[in-house]
Amino acid sequence: MVQIAPSILAADFAHLADEVARVEAAGADLLHVDVMDGHFVPNLTIGPPVIKALHAVTRLPLDVHLMVQEPDALLPAFIDAGSANLSVHVEACRHLHRTIQIIKEAGVEASVVLNPASPISLLHDILPELHMVLLMSVNPGFGGQQFIPATLNKIRALKQEITERQLSVQIEVDGGVNAATAPLVRAAGADVLVAGTAVFGKADYVQAIRALQA
Ligand code: DX5
Ligand code: ZN
Repeated sequence: MVQIAPSILAADFAHLADEVARVEAAGADLLHVDVMDGHFVPNLTIGPPVIKALHAVTRLPLDVHLMVQEPDALLPAFIDAGSANLSVHVEACRHLHRTIQIIKEAGVEASVVLNPASPISLLHDILPELHMVLLMSVNPGFGGQQFIPATLNKIRALKQEITERQLSVQIEVDGGVNAATAPLVRAAGADVLVAGTAVFGKADYVQAIRALQA
């Protein structure tokens, strides 16, 4: 079954531990953490101290999405904080292969993110090294945006490539995933769905997560 990764970007930050406990109890598979640096994307969010604090209060693997320009210098702090997976943007890394190796050598899962305008062909050579490819289905920087339908063809093409090359890379999709778009994303071949407002924006987290899995 598809995995659900609620994004805490849409959570109530004044009650973050409670919010995380509620999605954990509601059946979330991963916890998606959006890190924004105010340079790569026009917004600022959270960093390693918050990830460390969350790591202490949840069993959910922390799926950390780094929207950070040239992340290499910051990687040790995110690794030490307890990240299970670190996703870096292809558009933000000058030496992507080196960045991926730094993450993997620390025993953390390494994944790469593609913005909506970036083609999957950019990942041809690095694909066998990756835990996941995260396809952005909105432009990164903000929650609550509308799903970009062209992402569906990208998911299908990437799924076909992974199958043909007999790789075990997972496909994660992030942005505008809700009860209406989730069936399309699942049918196209996604393995992990990120959802912010479609989970934390709802009153009943069990129902909200089920609506994405069904
Ligand atoms: C956007 C973030 C997303 C965001 C998704 O830059 O990467 O993870 O939280 O929010 P929704 O699900 O509301 O589109
Ligand atoms: Zn994200």
